[in-house]
Amino acid sequence: MKNTNNKKGLITVIANLKGGSGKSTVAFNLGLWLQKKGQPVVAYDLDPQCTLTDVAEVRREEGYAPPLVVYQQRDNLREQLQIHPGQVLVDVGAANMAAMKDAIAVADRVVVPVPPSQPDVWATQRFLHIVEEATAGSHKPELLVFVNRADTHCAVRESDETEAVLGQLEGISLIPHRLYQRTIYRRSLSEGLAIHELSRRSKAVAEFDALAKALFPQTGGTKLNMH
Ligand SMILES: Nc1ncnc2c1ncn2[C@@H]1O[C@H](COP(=O)(O)OP(=O)(O)OP(=O)(O)O)[C@@H](O)[C@H]1O
Ligand SMILES: [Mg+2]
Repeated sequence: MKNTNNKKGLITVIANLKGGSGKSTVAFNLGLWLQKKGQPVVAYDLDPQCTLTDVAEVRREEGYAPPLVVYQQRDNLREQLQIHPGQVLVDVGAANMAAMKDAIAVADRVVVPVPPSQPDVWATQRFLHIVEEATAGSHKPELLVFVNRADTHCAVRESDETEAVLGQLEGISLIPHRLYQRTIYRRSLSEGLAIHELSRRSKAVAEFDALAKALFPQTGGTKLNMH
C-alpha cells in the first residue's frame, strides 16, 4: 500500500510484557470504534498467537461490516508500519520481543493495559526499561497506561492502588479511564463483534467509549486529562 497523501498515520502500539492483560481485546475494539468514527484503520498482529488475526477472521467469515484489516509480521516492519496514512494499531506481546522493539521504535504512542495487581505493576516497570532500550537515542513515543480488568466490587481497592503507583512512575501518563472486568469482552473476541455492536447501552460500552475518546481526542473525543 502506498501513502498517497504523504501524511504518515498515527501509530499506536498496544503492548505489555504480561499475557492476558487485554491487548488483543483492546486493539480489536479500538479498531472497530475508530472505524465507526469514520477513521481509516489498519491493524498489525505481531503476536505468534495471532488472536487479533483470528478474531478479525471470525468477523470476516460471519460477514460483519466493516471488516478489520489485520496484517501479520512482515519484513521491513518499521518501514511497513509507517506507510499507512490513517490509524495504525499494533498488537504485540512478549512472545515476539524483536517485533515489539521495532514497533515501539516507530510508534507515536504506546498504550499499556495493566490489570490491577502487583505483578502487573512490576511487569509495567520492566516494560518501561524495554521502551527506553528500544528508543535509545531516537524519538520517544508517548506512553499511556490504563487499568484493565478492574474489579467491579467497590470494596476491592487494587485498582486504586495500581493507579496510584502507575501515576507516580516517571515518563508515563495514566489515563484515568478504567475498563472493568465485564463478560462482554469475552463475547466480543469469540463472536468477532465490538462491544458496541453487541450492546448499545451497557456500562462496558460507556467505559470503553470514555477510554477511546481519551486516547483519540482528534476523533471528536474529549482532550486527554491525565494524572
Ligand atoms: N476488561 C475485561 N473484562 C473481562 N474480560 C476481559 C477484559 N479484557 C480482556 N478480557 C478477556 O481476557 C482474556 C485475555 O485477553 P486478551 O487476549 O485480549 O489479552 P492479551 O493481553 O492479548 O493476551 P496475550 O498476551 O495472551 O496475547 C480474553 O478472554 C479477553 O476477552
Ligand atoms: Mg493477545
